[in-house]
Amino acid sequence: MSTEQSHKGRFITIEGTEGVGKSTNVAFVKARIEAAGFELVLTREPGGTVLAEQIRDLLLTPSAEKMSVDTELLLVFAARAQHINSVILPALARGAWVLSDRFTDATYAYQGFGRGIDLQRIEQLEQFVQGSLRPDLTLLLDAPVEIGLARASARGELDRIEQEKQCFFEKVREGYHYQMEREPLRFAMIDASQNLAAVKSQVGLVLRTKLGI
Ligand SMILES: Nc1ncnc2c1ncn2[C@@H]1O[C@H](COP(=O)(O)OP(=O)(O)OP(=O)(O)O)[C@@H](O)[C@H]1O
Ligand SMILES: [Mg+2]
Repeated sequence: MSTEQSHKGRFITIEGTEGVGKSTNVAFVKARIEAAGFELVLTREPGGTVLAEQIRDLLLTPSAEKMSVDTELLLVFAARAQHINSVILPALARGAWVLSDRFTDATYAYQGFGRGIDLQRIEQLEQFVQGSLRPDLTLLLDAPVEIGLARASARGELDRIEQEKQCFFEKVREGYHYQMEREPLRFAMIDASQNLAAVKSQVGLVLRTKLGI
């Protein structure tokens, strides 16, 4: 299926550094969209299909062999190509809404700002893999990295990315801010350092004002 195909459904992404509350909030967003009467496909990156989840395992499982930054970037986009073609585009084409826990802003933030890969290289891959597909709305959950890391580490063992040092995640957060400044109309930033009730209420306000639901 062509990535140039026009779509009827809405494509929403949720982004932010480790442990800020993305996965916690998707359930709330999903419920709101379904209550408004739309079919919602809830998915995540890296992953979202059987094959793409296998690539996710490669990306997140700690290994004795150091993964090169280019390998990491290409694996992220390989998983994304699979995800777009077998999940996202078919859903949007039938009028469903798609909510993805992370998408390409994460690549700019983690592989671009975090790993130091040239942003133009990421743009080339974005164009190649996505064509004109871009999210309609991106919810950026923003909090000081130590807050998210404390929440994530309370959850159990750290994956390969979570094992990075705090300064890596500071760069990732900066990357998300950079993406938001580039496309302020697509982004809505939410203060994720607040308690969950306050975060949900801010997310709810964004859904009302930006999507009318
Ligand atoms: N606003 C909040 N206040 C306090 N704790 C929270 C809040 N939001 C989420 N949590 C808790 O923090 C932990 C991390 O949340 P969650 O898994 O949703 O983060 P995430 O952004 O999806 O993390 P990851 O980047 O690792 O996927 C969970 O235990 C969750 O219950
Ligand atoms: Mg999560």
